[in-house]
Amino acid sequence: MSTKAKFQAIRGTRDLLPPETALWNRVEQTAHEVFATFGYGEIRPPIFENIEVFARSVGADSDIVSKEMYSLLDPPTWPEILEKLGNVEDYDRIEATFGIKQALTQSAWMAEIMALRPEATASVCRAYIEHNMQQLPQPVKLYYMGPMFRRERPQKGRYRQFYQIGAEILGGPDAPAIDAELIEMLMTFFDKCGLQGTELSINSIGHAADNCRRGYVAKLKAELEKVKDKLGADSQRRIETNPLRVLDSKLEHEQAIIEKLPRIADHLCDECKTHYAAVKRELELRGVIYRENWRLVRGLDYYMRTTFEITAQGLGSQNAVCGGGRYDGLVELLGGPPTKGIGFAIGEDRLILSLQDAKSQSPVTSHQSPSVYIAWMGERAYATALRAAKDLRKAGFVVELPPTELKFGKALERASKLGSRFALILGDNEVADGQWTLKTLADGSQQKLTEQALLEYLRKS
Ligand code: HAM
Repeated sequence: MSTKAKFQAIRGTRDLLPPETALWNRVEQTAHEVFATFGYGEIRPPIFENIEVFARSVGADSDIVSKEMYSLLDPPTWPEILEKLGNVEDYDRIEATFGIKQALTQSAWMAEIMALRPEATASVCRAYIEHNMQQLPQPVKLYYMGPMFRRERPQKGRYRQFYQIGAEILGGPDAPAIDAELIEMLMTFFDKCGLQGTELSINSIGHAADNCRRGYVAKLKAELEKVKDKLGADSQRRIETNPLRVLDSKLEHEQAIIEKLPRIADHLCDECKTHYAAVKRELELRGVIYRENWRLVRGLDYYMRTTFEITAQGLGSQNAVCGGGRYDGLVELLGGPPTKGIGFAIGEDRLILSLQDAKSQSPVTSHQSPSVYIAWMGERAYATALRAAKDLRKAGFVVELPPTELKFGKALERASKLGSRFALILGDNEVADGQWTLKTLADGSQQKLTEQALLEYLRKS
């Protein structure tokens, strides 16, 4: 008979299991700590929103919205429909009035369409408006972490449910130092996690005005039309929908063509040029090492001026561990006042993969083995063991207490398997003379200690 489980996690989703989850927690804890030192507060937006929040901001033509979003229909119940229709009292009357087909159409028409969030920047902006955060001291600095959903083709580092740790700064002045400090915080976080081989790429994609990005995109489009026949189907389509995205192409045969296309840096307006130069200067002042990449345009519509991406080692083709950029105008697009904005999102799954790949010579490790395994035998010893476990845990030690009595030999075997550092041996003799036996599992040495001395010894070791 096959041992294959009847149910499996849905394609592109997965269970995160111990001990790996300990590493996830450490990474998240590091984010809480680092972001707090930069004055950020945590926001927890809902996992689903009205679909318009994403369609309007990420862009209806973007891959994320047009192909990858999970939408949900939330149709009203019959009593809700009846209430809305007002003059029709019951289902039979609706059917008589409209016919069943039309009655159902009515329900679909009245349904709210929601989507599982593919990202959280749009939600944060929606929340900024909803909670009148423009009345708080500006800028408002927020961060979040949690699952996102995109119906992408799953592969290593690419999932349909994945996790992001992100931060956004909303409001405040037009200061390039804001862009640079956000990136500095990001690099500080990666450093604290022990992430290896990071590379920060930056670019400026100008702003929507005629004499800046619009002029450039028109020129780019004209040049792309000339080489259209040499491009693949995706790029050909993008000439019409979003010519900037052609620059993103990874297709081997398109690279030489793309390298010859006009570059945005040569088309930025004076304001955007000044802003970009100042961001670079501010990064240098902070000792942040970057590489300029004129092809870094990013796949979401809301960006302007500064864009950036970070890659890390050990990730194969999905090596972007973080992406972000400036999005002045997004809050306004969602119905709020004109507001500046910039942020990033880290792909937590990829961050973890890269940390694991580097076998983490980092301070962040996934190890959560018990420091003390309590081997007990006998009823009196059990009562003492329970009390000892309580006291040791209170003092911050990871304690494993076997729930059933085991012979000492068996218990010590288990302790070694779990990777415990110490075994506390409690039998009737130990309890009677108040001298507990502590065994160091690495070298097998043993010593007798009183309860008080034990705590002091463990604290020092
Ligand atoms: P994004 O580039 O779409 O930007 O995603 C950010 C990061 O999330 C990526 O660099 C990647 O590490 C991770 N990621 C994206 N899709 C997947 C996937 N299917 N599986 C695993 N990881 C994935 C945003 O989401 C913007 N909201 C970032 C931002 C915040 N811009 C401004 N503020």
